Amino acid sequence: MTTSISIILNNIPCEGHAGQTILEVARANGIRIPTLCHHERLKPIGSCRLCMVEVEGSGSPVAACTTPARSGMIVRTHTPALEKLRRDTLLLLLVDHRLDCDSCELDGACRVQELARCYGITQAEIDQLGFCPVPRGPVTYGATPLITYHPDRCIRCGRCVKACEEISEQAVLSFAGRGAATTIAPMEQDGKFSGECLSCGECMAVCPVNALTETHVVEALPDGARVKKIRTICPYCGCGCTM
Ligand code: FES
Repeated sequence: MTTSISIILNNIPCEGHAGQTILEVARANGIRIPTLCHHERLKPIGSCRLCMVEVEGSGSPVAACTTPARSGMIVRTHTPALEKLRRDTLLLLLVDHRLDCDSCELDGACRVQELARCYGITQAEIDQLGFCPVPRGPVTYGATPLITYHPDRCIRCGRCVKACEEISEQAVLSFAGRGAATTIAPMEQDGKFSGECLSCGECMAVCPVNALTETHVVEALPDGARVKKIRTICPYCGCGCTM
């Protein structure tokens, strides 16, 4: 049996049930809080910090996607201070991700571009900040030769890492490096990959910025290998398994 709870969101009493996060109660009551790392199929990640909200009595804003809603909570989701915080967070995230990425198939339909439009952020404003991100080209990994990683698009939200672990139950992907040099890479233990990539495509499916794409199959094959066309209904990888 689910226990009902009631919280005040932006001065409006809202119903939810025990176990829901503030974000889930807000969405169920038609209040939109910006999110980026959150994905319905994954456990909360809490990395992007766009969903910050004010909870009366707590000293500083909290992430709505990871904070459980409790009866009697008084929550504000769109104060000027929160909107400024979100805009600043987004600006910092964008110093390493160009808005005019016209080589990307998601150009024009990218969640990051959409948020930048909402918050009136332009490439000119980002350039004025003076950061010079190191240009990094796409890479393929031995563990996942059918998937290409584009570090210059990646916002390190962690959705792909979680999808590999929670949906595919493989835990092949992990964060590598630190700070601005952080990337996504196959996890290695004792020189071996810690899981087996199934090329299931779940990491690509949850990526909000198209940082993981299908490798052109011919490029992924060893030298001299031949390509044979087959009929398949596989919606994911296009690699042509016949199961
Ligand atoms: Fe909550 Fe990213 S959506 S921290």
